[in-house]
Amino acid sequence: MSSDLGSKVVIVNFKAYAEVDGVKAVDLAKACEKVAAETGAKIVACPPMVELSAVAGAVSIPVLSQNIDPKKPGSATGWITPSMVKACGCAGTLINHAEHKVAPEVVGQCIEMAHELGLVTVVCANTVEDAKVLAAYAPEYIAVEPPELIGGDVSVTSADPAIVKNTVEQVKAVNPNIRVLCGAGVKNGKDVEAAIALGAEGVLLASGVVKAKDPYAVLKDLVSGL
Ligand code: G3P
Repeated sequence: MSSDLGSKVVIVNFKAYAEVDGVKAVDLAKACEKVAAETGAKIVACPPMVELSAVAGAVSIPVLSQNIDPKKPGSATGWITPSMVKACGCAGTLINHAEHKVAPEVVGQCIEMAHELGLVTVVCANTVEDAKVLAAYAPEYIAVEPPELIGGDVSVTSADPAIVKNTVEQVKAVNPNIRVLCGAGVKNGKDVEAAIALGAEGVLLASGVVKAKDPYAVLKDLVSGL
């Protein structure tokens, strides 16, 4: 059993940018929370692992871990167990981000363990083919992100709209309940609007918000595209 973040979501991956070191992660999450409260948009914060408790304790919007490892509580020094992520107050977790790839069978183990604890799973895929394979493990979300566009200034929705459309088609053919997101280079409300028009149910983004001079203003613009 697991919960759901819903359709039309903006997930902000804080990654490991210096802009969110320490208490600054809470500041960014509060900006996300403020925009969510003012607009009614679903915004999800995905802070660095070491700030999960601080962020989840400070805001009412859903918080995701950037990763989990398929480890049970106990002798697992340095690993991130699904149980500790749940105890931090997280709603769920990313799995298999392009910057933290794992084998497909490990993705499957992580999803199973997350679901046992009611954690939502957002699985990343680099390609349509990867997305199709990973759909067999039935995560709640698959986020397609071409690695070459990550961190760039051109949105996947304009650089490669076909990958978004085809991922939606292929994933839904495997399991119509999986929601498809897209990411890489997403920067503004027009990009989000384009993602929705291509059949995605939201976006996963990072640098456009985390590195912005005014994250609040960027977030306001982003959610205008939902
Ligand atoms: O997880 C989101 C990410 O990989 C996309 O990064 O900076 O292109 O929005 P960015």
